[in-house]
Amino acid sequence: MHHYTEPMLRDGALKGKTFIVTGGGTGLGKAMTKYFLELGAQVVICSRKKEVIETSADTLSKETGGRCLGIVCDVRKYEEVESMLNQAIEKFGKINGLVNNAAGNFISPTERLSHRAFDTIVDIVLKGTYNCSLALGKYWINNKINARVLNIVTTYAWVGSAYVVPSACAKSGVLALTRSLAVEWGKYDIRFNAIAPGPFPTEGAWNRLFPKAFQEELAIDKRIPVGRVGQHQELANLAAYLMSDYAAYVNGEVVTIDGGEWMRNGGEFSWIGDAISPEMWDQVEQSIRSNNKKE
Ligand code: HXC
Ligand code: NAP
Repeated sequence: MHHYTEPMLRDGALKGKTFIVTGGGTGLGKAMTKYFLELGAQVVICSRKKEVIETSADTLSKETGGRCLGIVCDVRKYEEVESMLNQAIEKFGKINGLVNNAAGNFISPTERLSHRAFDTIVDIVLKGTYNCSLALGKYWINNKINARVLNIVTTYAWVGSAYVVPSACAKSGVLALTRSLAVEWGKYDIRFNAIAPGPFPTEGAWNRLFPKAFQEELAIDKRIPVGRVGQHQELANLAAYLMSDYAAYVNGEVVTIDGGEWMRNGGEFSWIGDAISPEMWDQVEQSIRSNNKKE
């Protein structure tokens, strides 16, 4: 019996809190927002597409009975971030937390990228994250509000990855920001943590990273030790915990949720998997032992 598709925290665990979730109108941002609302939080979601963000905010409010406000905001533009923050404060009075979830990405050999394509990804992911963190941070420090920030990175933030180089550069910058500000702003009671998800099917990521043309070659679930991709609720459970007061002593951490994928594929010999038969291992062992023989 598996419980990972079920909500985990107790009812009302986020009651009285208001969070901003960037990119909260689709995919994982939407799944996290939905669960925050179910746990009693009020949530402001933002993204560039007016229709998408407003419809999602409406649907989420109706589905959960919670209060969700959709605001158009391009996180690359600091003035738009400040304006979003002001609208959020006007509506809900006080903001207690931020999830930097908005991202841009697509798979491509790096030499095919224009410098503008590189800028686009780094601007959404890294600049967007520091714009929001800075605007909210100043507000929290000036108003003496204790707060928490959750940054959504990915496992290649620390190992890097071919074919998604702008995203890898940007996500690793976001991880550095997480760890740095966790220490610097700890004294203001502002916590910074990150989640590094492995593959979780969403339209946004799948269209741009696992296109149909080579879905078979990538055989994504075969790369994952537990043999499956992630379910949105298990990510939402982890995010809700890190955003809650229960995680008050967790600061500067990055939690990987990938079924063991990066360890398996990051280790020098891990790729071998089941490719070597037991008989071949016998031969290998014999040969290694014979080389060890002391004359
Ligand atoms: C080469 C490309 C390209 C492609 C765009 N460009 N797509 N170059 N190959 N496939 C170039 C454009 O030609 C342009 O450069 C520059 O990039 C900017 O493109 P625009 O379309 O003008 O930008 P914009 O409208 O801002 O759109 C941004 C975007 C788009 C990133 C390109 O895909 C987007 O809106 N994405 C948001 C959602 C998203 O990406 N979600 C996935 C996150 S998944 P020129 O030189 O022509 O001006 C994720 C998971 C990681 O991060 C881990 C998975 C396991
Ligand atoms: P997604 O649905 O495409 O989410 C990205 C969101 O960011 C969209 O709602 C998009 O909305 C918004 N966005 C993009 N540019 C923006 C900008 N300049 N300003 C404001 N909002 C912007 O993809 P997802 O899979 O849910 O990804 C969510 C997060 O998880 C990302 O940080 C991603 O890197 C991370 N992640 C995902 C996976 C996975 O397997 N899915 C794995 C590891 C990490 P608009 O287009 O309306 O602006």
